[in-house]
Amino acid sequence: MADSIEAAAAPRRIRTSGDREVGAYLEIAEAREPGHVFHPAPNAPETVVVLDYGGQYAMLIARRVREAGVYSELVPWNTPPERLDHLRTKAFILSGGPASVYEPGAPTLPDYVIASGLPVLGICYGMQLLAHTLGGRVAPTATREYGHAVIRVADSSSPLLRGLPSTLPVWMSHGDHVVELPPGFHAIAQSDSSPVSVMGDAAGHLGIQFHPEVVHTPQGEQLLRNFLFEVSGCAGDWTAANFVEESIRTIRERVGTGRVICALSGGVDSAVAATLVHRAIGDQLTCIFVDNGLLRAEEPERVIATFSQHMAMNLLHVDATERFLATLAGVTNPEEKRLRIGTTFIRVFEAEARALGRVDFICQGTTYPDVIESASAEGSAAAKIKTHHNVGGLPPDMQFTLIEPLRHLFKDEVRRVGHELGLPDEMVYRQPFPGPGLAIRVIGEVTREKLDVLRAADWIVMDEIKRAALYYDLWQSFAVLTNTRTVGVQGDFRTYGHCIALRCVTAEDAMTADWARIPYDVLSRISTRVVNEVPDVNRVVYDITSKPPGTIEWE
Ligand code: XMP
Repeated sequence: MADSIEAAAAPRRIRTSGDREVGAYLEIAEAREPGHVFHPAPNAPETVVVLDYGGQYAMLIARRVREAGVYSELVPWNTPPERLDHLRTKAFILSGGPASVYEPGAPTLPDYVIASGLPVLGICYGMQLLAHTLGGRVAPTATREYGHAVIRVADSSSPLLRGLPSTLPVWMSHGDHVVELPPGFHAIAQSDSSPVSVMGDAAGHLGIQFHPEVVHTPQGEQLLRNFLFEVSGCAGDWTAANFVEESIRTIRERVGTGRVICALSGGVDSAVAATLVHRAIGDQLTCIFVDNGLLRAEEPERVIATFSQHMAMNLLHVDATERFLATLAGVTNPEEKRLRIGTTFIRVFEAEARALGRVDFICQGTTYPDVIESASAEGSAAAKIKTHHNVGGLPPDMQFTLIEPLRHLFKDEVRRVGHELGLPDEMVYRQPFPGPGLAIRVIGEVTREKLDVLRAADWIVMDEIKRAALYYDLWQSFAVLTNTRTVGVQGDFRTYGHCIALRCVTAEDAMTADWARIPYDVLSRISTRVVNEVPDVNRVVYDITSKPPGTIEWE
């Protein structure tokens, strides 16, 4: 197998996008210019490039590869090779996708993939595309395979299936399948509905019809590991410690003697990004913590204690509570709240940054899902959610160069890096908290009094959830102050008090979520304490809506 990605392919019959309809085969050597020559950056980690064909699990593939200790990037299928130049690519994975290879305009396989001579794993559409491109035949299945299926191994000597049993439960989701193998390929496994569920050739081109990346394929992780280590010869050196070491080196190189600022929110992303930059350049970094008065109880104190006292960072703490409350006065529309909070944040941050004098760089805690989402879903709701955080909204005369040290990390990797950097668990494994803070958990107008009620209730929720050892199992758990007053009876008196809603969800990411089945006795303790300890609250309700159709936050 070729060790680098320099084009090393032996002449091979290949179908190009242009000749797809007529089914002509062309010699690859005649069909293309000589292959692209890649130039990996000196310390680039070994990389598996996942080409995204629009499958709903594409991002999951990249995550699974990373979990196995190999760096992976997810890029659109039509990414030009120059964009991958800096990577030390060891293999390609082609994701699933909704298209059919024989549809006009269906996404194709870029020439550089086969020309690289590197191993290729096609998953679902990726397998069909590989078969179609290399001269096989793909056709609709008589019965579509959706959900659980069983495959039977025909060639147990394949390194892809090393250590796996002769029949495997897998997760399928396809309407097309490979009916004729490309020259040089053989069937490695089959299912009742497909004569070829796994295929491969001697050059490390492999196709699997099912999805190894989803949990419903129990041996999927082992299969991916086999592809990475047995087929592609990866070293598995993608670790938090290596990442920290390499990032510190590159940040130092980039920043030189420049000055960097970073907005700290108390959340894990900005905390880890700032810590990494601080480790690299020490006092050249100044962090700005804007307290918007919309944080939870004791949060500002914790941020200051961690960064200023414990880590000895230059930290500017700006208490802008009054300014934020003034801008929110009378506002009830959730998007208007977000907008005003975002604009005020930028104005406060800008004033602080200007007062510092010369600043060359701004560090942000952007993570990989943000990067992928903004590349593939420009303008989607998901991309919009973060707008207020985007200090790119600063005036044009304030020109900083962006440093985004976590730009290629998934959330779990950010946490591992945070842990590696010695940040407290409480910060590293903190549940997500929205930028607009408690303002979007006070339904209707935000006032200081309402914030105090919500803060007190939220504290009790957190306390009980932590006591019950549920905190780390839940994606989020919090209180919402509804704008409903309800009748109650406390002592011998009729009350007319606030109604608090409790929201606890489980999730793998925030795109979907399920309401958490919290034990009744925990719910009961929360309810009793909230109505007894928080003045003016006489009712607690539990939100049993999943996402979709609900969202996690109420506003
Ligand atoms: P929803 O409510 O849309 O939330 O299901 C998904 C995740 O995003 C968080 N969230 C926000 N985060 N600014 C943020 O930084 C926002 O305006 C915002 N709105 C929601 C929410 O807490 C959940 O984790």
